[in-house]
Parts: sequence; C-alpha cells; structure tokens
Amino acid sequence: MYFEESILPHSDSENVIEINHLKKSFNRNSVLKDISLTVKKGENVVVLGKSGIGKSVLIKCIVRLIQPDAGSLKVFGQEITSMNPEELNELRSKIGFIFQGNALYDSMTVRENLEFPLRRNKILKDPNIIEELIVEALENVGLLDAMHKMPSELSGGMKKRIGLARTLILKPDIILYDEPTTGLDPLTSREISNLIVEIQTKYNASSIIITHDLNCAKITSNRMLILQDGIFIAQGTFDELKNSDDEWVKSYFKVE
Ligand SMILES: Nc1ncnc2c1ncn2[C@@H]1O[C@H](COP(=O)(O)OP(=O)(O)OP(=O)(O)O)[C@@H](O)[C@H]1O
Ligand SMILES: [Mg+2]
Repeated sequence: MYFEESILPHSDSENVIEINHLKKSFNRNSVLKDISLTVKKGENVVVLGKSGIGKSVLIKCIVRLIQPDAGSLKVFGQEITSMNPEELNELRSKIGFIFQGNALYDSMTVRENLEFPLRRNKILKDPNIIEELIVEALENVGLLDAMHKMPSELSGGMKKRIGLARTLILKPDIILYDEPTTGLDPLTSREISNLIVEIQTKYNASSIIITHDLNCAKITSNRMLILQDGIFIAQGTFDELKNSDDEWVKSYFKVE
C-alpha cells in the first residue's frame, strides 16, 4: 500500500462534487451567474461553451485558484469556500488539474517532471516505489521510452500525455481537464480522449472535461452541460444534446 488513507479513492457512490448557485464576477464582468452542478463518483462530465464564457473560471473555483463570490461548492461533502489553507492543501492533493496549455517544466526531464508532484506532496520517500509509480504513470500513457527525454524533444501530443501522466501519478480522485485535446490532430485527439476513458475505468475517477472538441466530448462524456451567459442552458448525454430541438444547443453541434 503506497498511500495514506486520506488520499485513497472513496468507494461510495455519492456526489464527489456538488456546486450550488455559484457566482463569480470580475469587476463588472459577471462570468458565472448561477451555476449548479453535481459530479458522481466515476462520472465524466463534459462542459461545452464558447471561448471566454467562463469554463476555466468554473474549474479554477473548484480548487479555489479563484474564490467564488457566492454559492456553495462542496468536494467530498466538504464546503471548500470556507476551508483554511491546510484543509485546502489536503483537498488539492486529491484533485488532478490538467491546465489549459498544460506546461511541463522545460528544464527537467520527463522523469523529473513526474517526480516533482511526488516530492512536492512529500508522499513518498522510497526510491523503489517512486520508480514503480513513474513507470506505471508512463505506461498508462504509452510513453515509457520517453522517460529520459527533455520536453523540447517531445511532440505536442506527447507533452499532453506526459502532462496527464504527471497528474495521474498522485492517483487523484477527481481530474479536471481544461481542453485536453486542443491543438492536436484528430488522431492524437482521439488517443487522448480514449486515454481519459481508460483512466476513468482504471481508477474510477470523477472528471470534468472542458472541451471544444465534439469528438472528445462524444468519447469521454457520460453527461454534458452547455455553459452560456453565466448559466448552464442545457444538460444531457451527447446524443440527447445533439438531437435537441433547441436552436442554441444545436448551434454547438454544427460542423462548418
Ligand atoms: N483572474 C481573472 N481576472 C479577471 N478576469 C478574468 C480572470 N480570469 C478570467 N477572467 C475573465 O473571465 C471570463 C471567462 O474566462 P475563462 O478563462 O473562464 O474563459 P473560457 O470559457 O475558459 O474560454 P476559453 O475557451 O477561451 O479557454 C473572461 O472574460 C476572462 O477575461
Ligand atoms: Mg479556458
């Protein structure tokens, strides 16, 4: 057993994320007006929405990189808006965040990039276990042979996969993906999308996936929501939304 009890995945089927009436403005820019959302254990929820609509703001609120103005935000049943720094750190160790653009540390090898979160969280000291986890994380993304490469030697798709491996190494219960396939060719996007599903199955993790990529949404989502003008205007499965009669909803599925 590698991990302390506190970061083991929860085995119950309750909501792991529960957001109620969340609001966030920046000066006069009212970005999130009334957001309610639940994510269950093992569920992949995709959020669609135009550029600049507040998708990244929403998931940054979940790890409190952004402090919401109002509303309730519970993760594993705990209200995060009132957490102290210690509680917040503990919570963040259970959440993997794949940032938009997802930068690796350029001056570190792939291996060092993967070791970094382990050292920062001070979870492990045994070098054999660290080695095992690095190998497992790289195998998960099919890039074991990239262990000693520098990020500059990797393609965009490989960097994304290493970014994923770096997040997975902490075995998070929740993974927040901010546009995981942006900038990739359709084939690589599909590989990443399939990987997201594999991770969901293997770890029974819960995820919010922000994407503009309909193929990614189709492959990864159990449920989808569309964010527009500060609220969710629709939710349903990919097929339900795709076949919606609502003109706004339809507009997200139009392929030029
Ligand atoms: N820290 C901040 N301070 C002020 N305004 C911000 C901040 N973060 C985001 N915003 C504003 O909030 C709005 C939503 O931004 P956000 O990054 O969430 O968009 P997005 O939906 O993720 O867009 P994209 O698809 O382009 O990534 C934008 O108008 C942005 O300028
Ligand atoms: Mg964004």
